[in-house]
Amino acid sequence: MNTGNTNLEAIVCEFRTEGSVDSVKRVGSGHINDSYLVTTNPAGNSDYLLQRINHHIFRDVPKLTDNILKVSRHLQARLLCQPSDFDYFQVLKPVATRQGNFFLHDPEGNFWRLYLYISGTKSYDIVESSDLAFEGGKAFGIFQYLTADMDGSALFETLTDFHNIAVRLQNFRSIVQLDPEKRVSSLQSEINFVESRAEEMHLILELGRSGAIPLRVTHNDTKFNNVLFDDHQRAISVVDFDTVMPGYSLYDFGDAIRTGTNTGAEDEQDLSKVGINLSLFAAYTRGYLSIAGGFLTPVELSHLAFSAKFMTYIIGLRFLTDHIDGDHYYRIHHPDHNLHRAKAQFRLLESMEEHFAEMQTIQALR
Ligand SMILES: Nc1ncnc2c1ncn2[C@@H]1O[C@H](COP(=O)(O)OP(=O)(O)O)[C@@H](O)[C@H]1O
Ligand SMILES: [Mg+2]
Repeated sequence: MNTGNTNLEAIVCEFRTEGSVDSVKRVGSGHINDSYLVTTNPAGNSDYLLQRINHHIFRDVPKLTDNILKVSRHLQARLLCQPSDFDYFQVLKPVATRQGNFFLHDPEGNFWRLYLYISGTKSYDIVESSDLAFEGGKAFGIFQYLTADMDGSALFETLTDFHNIAVRLQNFRSIVQLDPEKRVSSLQSEINFVESRAEEMHLILELGRSGAIPLRVTHNDTKFNNVLFDDHQRAISVVDFDTVMPGYSLYDFGDAIRTGTNTGAEDEQDLSKVGINLSLFAAYTRGYLSIAGGFLTPVELSHLAFSAKFMTYIIGLRFLTDHIDGDHYYRIHHPDHNLHRAKAQFRLLESMEEHFAEMQTIQALR
């Protein structure tokens, strides 16, 4: 997508903002959308976050927007109507266009939206301390708590079968059969790694299908940089609602652990650097359970540690599938990048397997 000659100020003016645009600056390290901080005159007015929506990934922008509105309005209503210990929590607020829509389709084919900027906040790409991990866990706990009375199935499934392991394994096996890039012969140990765990990894899907765990509203991108912190390192908001969908709470918990507690980078080639940081796991889990412990079901609560293994497995599987397929989905920055990512996820999973008993002890401490 190319913003080339787009006049960003003119785009902002299509929305119902207060004041006049002072500046528009690129911000954020998100990989999906392009985000800009918009300041306005006179000083003291609200600032805004302008985003160009990645409509190559999110193909149905009206339905995506509808999901975001449903969730943000629900969060706002719950916060307003119910006194709680976290009335400091801020909700993402979409701004309407002058026509009353919550996205703008420009003549060049780009889709735009505007949010109120939650001022005085910052997000972290890396979890720097146990205190931050605790706060991050608490923030996602609050998000799930406030949406717990929403009907998950009322949301549109933006990315179909996103965490459906049966579908992901089926895709993997078909690509292995096809072997379009003739890469399979050198990947036997990775393929064995996947197959030897395939059966146990159906657990969450089966718990969901049998009704043992409820379908909820899930965030589906519980990375740390989607939590906003204030100056006192208190987590005061969760943002990035593009992937809010019906799902299982365990997916959100597991992905936060996968992304937030790895001692190495997601694509680390020196596998001795990759592993789970148990202190961060414990802190995140404590923060999360300080809220979620009050409403999750016993079956959900007893599978938190497992969910971390599951999410690490399924993402590793997707990287490996894309490598075998010729790197069509994830952008690669060097040859075999997807293979390095897959190997790093599999190493992280092994580390979780090695420490699984400790992780289970931690999940039970409330
Ligand atoms: N309403 C907001 N107020 C302040 N900062 C925000 C807001 N929404 C997003 N951000 C910041 O912008 C970054 C990118 O936005 P995000 O919606 O997460 O886009 P992406 O989908 O590209 O990850 C976030 O990581 C966060 O730091
Ligand atoms: Mg983001």
